[in-house]
Amino acid sequence: MTHSDHAAPLESRASGPLTGKVRVPGDKSISHRSLILGALAVGETRISGLLEGEDVLNTAKSMQALGARVERTGDFEWKVNGVGVGGFAHPEKPLDFGNSGTGCRLVMGAVAGCPITAVFDGDASLRSRPMRRILDPLELMGARTGDIREGGRLPLTLSGARYPVPITYKTPVASAQIKSAVLLAGLSAPGITTVIEKEASRDHTELMLKHFGAEIVSQTEGAHGRRIELTGEPELRGAEVVVPADPSSAAFPVVAALVVAGSDVTLDDVMTNPLRTGLFTTLREMGAFIEESEARGDAGEPMARLRVRASKLRGVEVPPERAPSMIDEYLVLAAAASFAEGTTTMRGLKELRVKESDRLEATAAMLRANGVRVEVSGDDLIVEGKGHVPGGGLVATHMDHRIAMSALVMGLASEKPVKVDDTAFIATSFPDFIPMMRSLGAEFS
Ligand code: S3P
Repeated sequence: MTHSDHAAPLESRASGPLTGKVRVPGDKSISHRSLILGALAVGETRISGLLEGEDVLNTAKSMQALGARVERTGDFEWKVNGVGVGGFAHPEKPLDFGNSGTGCRLVMGAVAGCPITAVFDGDASLRSRPMRRILDPLELMGARTGDIREGGRLPLTLSGARYPVPITYKTPVASAQIKSAVLLAGLSAPGITTVIEKEASRDHTELMLKHFGAEIVSQTEGAHGRRIELTGEPELRGAEVVVPADPSSAAFPVVAALVVAGSDVTLDDVMTNPLRTGLFTTLREMGAFIEESEARGDAGEPMARLRVRASKLRGVEVPPERAPSMIDEYLVLAAAASFAEGTTTMRGLKELRVKESDRLEATAAMLRANGVRVEVSGDDLIVEGKGHVPGGGLVATHMDHRIAMSALVMGLASEKPVKVDDTAFIATSFPDFIPMMRSLGAEFS
């Protein structure tokens, strides 16, 4: 971990209209994947727009430790020289993924297909998160694990399979991390590795594998699901990757612009892959002005410019099947729902309990601390919007970047300031969040 061990509290307060044009950092999911696939490819991969946040930098270090050459060639520009599928070397030291579940779980998949042993570790938040869901399919493919704590918690040792077996795996929960781990291990297995998901999760791994030359087919399955078939042992070739701006990071200035009166903010190059844009769909249903223009695409990933203007929001019902397309956005949606008129019901949020923190309880606590009525009922979250937020609360961030940013967004339009106990973890995904928000007119102290 590179961030300070000392807590860095911060307060946000009612601000004048937010205005201006920004480009939020590169997408975190795509950044991790570009480094991992670059490391598994033969030849050179050039990445532009990489998110230089702590989570992704930890993945870059782990790729280096596994034998790839990873170099920073300019601002957000990186070059990776890969070792080829199955070519990872034994790392000398434990791989430290810091706060990042994605980095850790995807690399577990990649290591599972190589005849090497690696120790996986992370910070206190990551050490508390379940890894069994990843280890189960990887063991079916021939990987072996040691030092297992309850629930397969980190730190743990993973030995990859010498002869990986292709499997057909139905993911028990909609999780791109599980799907991606199986596909990355499947790269080394002869034959077809199949992943079936009942609800489609983000498909960046599939799109990028295709971009690097793999044979991979994805079909719809049932009402909301997908069936993905990967042909093993491809020769992945180094590629150019342009990382679009992260919609999960854009979510914070978008909601801030909606709730701060008089705001008019433009965000460039925001990724608009439909498996990531559930928040924007929901906000539009709530009455938000979010206008899309200049749509274009790169390596299968669409992006567009978003213009967001302050809007009067109303409460809505968010269906459970939308959860995978906005799984990281419920915290900031709850902040938006607090400023809406009427009740917003968000259903089917079980997975929020196993993110960087228990985000279901943390969201409720964030709202309660600021005078908003909220209820957790089973896996649902119900927010009573009154059109205004009293504020004045202190929010515990629990080592979770998105709690810190969501609470600070709330404070920009609440009656009294909102304080967070620690902003340090914002550096995992959006290192420039504070200066970028200030450049739009946000007031922090
Ligand atoms: C991610 C998948 C999601 C998401 C995480 C990033 C990815 O997790 O919460 O921030 O890049 O694959 P799950 O797939 O486990 O829901």
